[in-house]
Amino acid sequence: MRNRQIHLGLLAQPYGDHLAAWLNSSAPAGGATNIHYLQQLALTAEKGLFDLFFIADTPATCTENLHIHSRYPNYMNRLEPITELTAIAGMTRHIGLGATASTSFYEPYNIARLFASLDHLSKGRAAWNIVTSANDYAARNFGLDKLPPHDARYARAREFYSIVASLWDTWEDDAFIYDKAECLYFDPKKYHITDFKGEYFKVYGGLNIQRTPQGRPVVIQAGSSEAGKALAAETAEVVFASDPTLEAAQRFYADLKGRMAQFGRHTDELKILAGLSVVVGDSEAEAQDKFQQLQDMIHPDVGKMRLSADLEADLSSLPLDEPIPVEMIPKKANFHQAYFNQLAEMIREQRLTLRQLYSSYERGKVSLCGTPAMIADHMMTWMESDAADGFMLSFHTLPDDLQDFVSKVVPVLQARGVYRQQYQGSTLREHLNLSRPANRHVAAGDKR
Ligand SMILES: Cc1cc2nc3c(=O)[nH]c(=O)nc-3n(C[C@H](O)[C@H](O)[C@H](O)COP(=O)(O)O)c2cc1C
Repeated sequence: MRNRQIHLGLLAQPYGDHLAAWLNSSAPAGGATNIHYLQQLALTAEKGLFDLFFIADTPATCTENLHIHSRYPNYMNRLEPITELTAIAGMTRHIGLGATASTSFYEPYNIARLFASLDHLSKGRAAWNIVTSANDYAARNFGLDKLPPHDARYARAREFYSIVASLWDTWEDDAFIYDKAECLYFDPKKYHITDFKGEYFKVYGGLNIQRTPQGRPVVIQAGSSEAGKALAAETAEVVFASDPTLEAAQRFYADLKGRMAQFGRHTDELKILAGLSVVVGDSEAEAQDKFQQLQDMIHPDVGKMRLSADLEADLSSLPLDEPIPVEMIPKKANFHQAYFNQLAEMIREQRLTLRQLYSSYERGKVSLCGTPAMIADHMMTWMESDAADGFMLSFHTLPDDLQDFVSKVVPVLQARGVYRQQYQGSTLREHLNLSRPANRHVAAGDKR
């Protein structure tokens, strides 16, 4: 057996990723904006030697159906992620710090600057998750009535990325010389202008911050559409995968890694982290009991809302205890392709009632209830089957499920020799075994 080392990320939704997470007895009221609580989550993940602490984001609240959202307030009350990570950087020493920032609503210069700053102040632990966004609420906060079409969003994302990457190479690593005797702060030959004119952006200038400890922050991507995979194969260093079965995950893994060669990239330059939720128990039955208690807490309005959003169809008037008519499935999705496909398949093949569907649908991930050994077995099987390079853990509840994982599953993985005993390096690139990229101008021998 090849003892490949498992990489782990934490999807740090304040109370966990479950529709009823905030109702859990250990979820603190006000935790979403309480930096001490959020820092403790990061410290627990760091105690568990995780590669990455990651904050998902959308720059919007929902504006309709507030009577439903008041029962599931996930994105209604959040800290701005890069600000949150800045406060967490000061409390932690090793764990990588990643956040989402949308290419549909930021300007490239802002993103280049924000993540370069985070990389400096965390001493090389920053990561940017490129998303094109997937809801109209955000669009309406930025002068649009609705989100632009999928292809247009990705075309803009491609331009956006190339500008950001170019700005991150404004300065060569040794550009700032601080030579007081010669009155020379930096070497002008080691400064490089970005001159970009595209369909969406026009940028002429340089980033006003020196090259970062990691050379540039780690780039993450999570889209699973054709356009998403194409962008990821070319640019991403970490991909969050959303496949609910081993076979689908193997297909995605082979497909994405297979696309990299055309961009001159080696497959090791990209780590694919599969979505996974786990509930740990001393027995499988105990873990399942814990999970069922949580499932039973999902409010029916919230269950319907989740399905309607992911299927991109209004299911609100359907009866709870009858199967969802197949004709309700739209022809195609504009938002989250992977979630849509998963749901459409479940409706077509399993003929579940609406209530059964929201109680069993796990958005883009595998959900496991088991003993530490069972969970470790699952993770190792996926690693050995070339379905993943690690896992993006989106626990149902925080801090409970994270604490259980760190105290009970991590030691099993360590004993099996598939997980680190301690951090070996100090940057996120080092944790992920990603090399530090050379500045493109140095690599090209480009001197003025
Ligand atoms: C672990 C994980 C985290 C994600 N985080 C975000 C996020 O923070 N904001 C967002 O708009 N989309 C997020 N997504 C969604 C994807 O990045 C992507 O935008 C979406 O799937 C639509 O892209 P596609 O049509 O290419 O699949 C996340 C997906 C996964 C699996």
